[in-house]
Amino acid sequence: MTATVGQGTFRDNRAATVVADVMQRIRDVILEHKLTYEEYSAAKQFVIDLGVAGEWPLFADVFFEQTVEQVDSESREGSPGAIEGPYFIEGAPRLELPYVMPMRDDEPGDVLYFSGRVTSPNGEPIANAQVELWHSDNLGTYSNIPYNDDRELPPAFNLRGRFSTDEEGRYEVRTIIPVPYEIPTSGPTGALLTTVGWHAFRPAHLHIITSAPGHTPLTSQLYFDEDPYIDSDVAGAVKPGLILKLDKHDSPEELQSKNLDTPYFTTSYEFRLPRS
Ligand SMILES: [Fe+2]
Repeated sequence: MTATVGQGTFRDNRAATVVADVMQRIRDVILEHKLTYEEYSAAKQFVIDLGVAGEWPLFADVFFEQTVEQVDSESREGSPGAIEGPYFIEGAPRLELPYVMPMRDDEPGDVLYFSGRVTSPNGEPIANAQVELWHSDNLGTYSNIPYNDDRELPPAFNLRGRFSTDEEGRYEVRTIIPVPYEIPTSGPTGALLTTVGWHAFRPAHLHIITSAPGHTPLTSQLYFDEDPYIDSDVAGAVKPGLILKLDKHDSPEELQSKNLDTPYFTTSYEFRLPRS
């Protein structure tokens, strides 16, 4: 049986050049670190285990997708992009004004008002742009995801929603602040992290896809500046332009204005969509 890898995918028929380069760099590592037969066998078993466990997508997206996304971001205008991550699902509910993310009555976590604008690359506001937001809950769990452990799952479409900008390109949505979470650690990817002594956490983040006619959809992740994992994201996906500052509000007047009895936080971000 013969197989052709990526036929028609590599530009300018450069598959041979790229593949040869990958092979040579692996050989260079073997030479530089004088890998033993024992270590070679362990590495070979690791890639076999990845396949058996179905973790190749996880492994590739954690360690390499951000670099592909970096190349993609550098070649276009607009705000920096980010990896989509594995937890996006179609069909999130469309919200009505005032926008509040779907959540449980007693949803744990600090209240967050996330606001801003969607604009063209030159800052011109885009009315009726579409914003899709999804993020983890206060335990680091996403709704609608079949986890391999026995954790309690949130209701369907919890903390997933779609909404639009107003006439001036503005949006504001109420949600809760997500928390850092670990990528799955029970399989070979987790075993690799343990072996090399790296943690498995991603800093807390919001996932957003923004879209509008005449523009290319923008996939973003937004982080928070005091996060303990902001400098050591296991996926290496944090960029300086994607880090938000949280402002805390706890005066009686502010709490009354939002009809809240606990402090809340605000932050904002302007999405500049690339033109299509
Ligand atoms: Fe995520």
